[in-house]
Amino acid sequence: MKTDIRIIAGALATLALAGCNQSEEVPPLGTAQQMMAQEMQPTAEIFWGSVGSASELVDGEPVFREWQPETDAEWEEVRAAAQHLGELGEMLMTPAYAEGRGEDWNAYAQGLVDVSADAQQAAIAQDPEAVFEVGGTIYSVCSACHRMYPPEELPEGVTVDDVAQPRPNEDLTLEEYTEERDAD
Ligand code: HEC
Repeated sequence: MKTDIRIIAGALATLALAGCNQSEEVPPLGTAQQMMAQEMQPTAEIFWGSVGSASELVDGEPVFREWQPETDAEWEEVRAAAQHLGELGEMLMTPAYAEGRGEDWNAYAQGLVDVSADAQQAAIAQDPEAVFEVGGTIYSVCSACHRMYPPEELPEGVTVDDVAQPRPNEDLTLEEYTEERDAD
């Protein structure tokens, strides 16, 4: 499981850092901004991107395409992503991320833990419609927190509701994504 290894690697890196700066609790996955950009968004993309449909032009003809996980291994990847979102929700409730936030912070983070359970169930049931539906709920949970705790610096023309939008290319940073989008 890739993600677990990444968490361990992240934890080791922070341990190394903690040696230099022991006064504050060190966030295991960097600042909230780093955790969101490097873990939360990519993990959510795995879930959101697993099921979908699109019309594409092939040789000038519109072709309707639908996709969903096919093998048990692919479904497991979706389930693992759902589980990891819950783990990140738990992590958001630790003092390293929760300190200095309002009383509602933990409730938003708990929302992620709750929806993670439903999301895992949908993947275990190998039910593409349920995955699609719970994917919408995940987006609402992300957005609810962002409206209360918006990023300090949003690229120009970006609203908080754009922040956790599924991106056509999951490697794009928020800034790259909005630049490409606005170029259209
Ligand atoms: C408990 C609150 C909370 C939840 C839940 C939450 N976020 Fe965030 N998110 C934040 C905060 C706070 C920031 C702003 C960080 C900053 O700029 O300091 C942020 C910023 C972001 C960013 C911008 C990162 C950047 O590049 O600047 C992305 C992308 C993001 N979140 C994705 C998500 C996704 C996807 C979810 C849901 C699966 C989610 N977030 C759920 C609190 C939350």
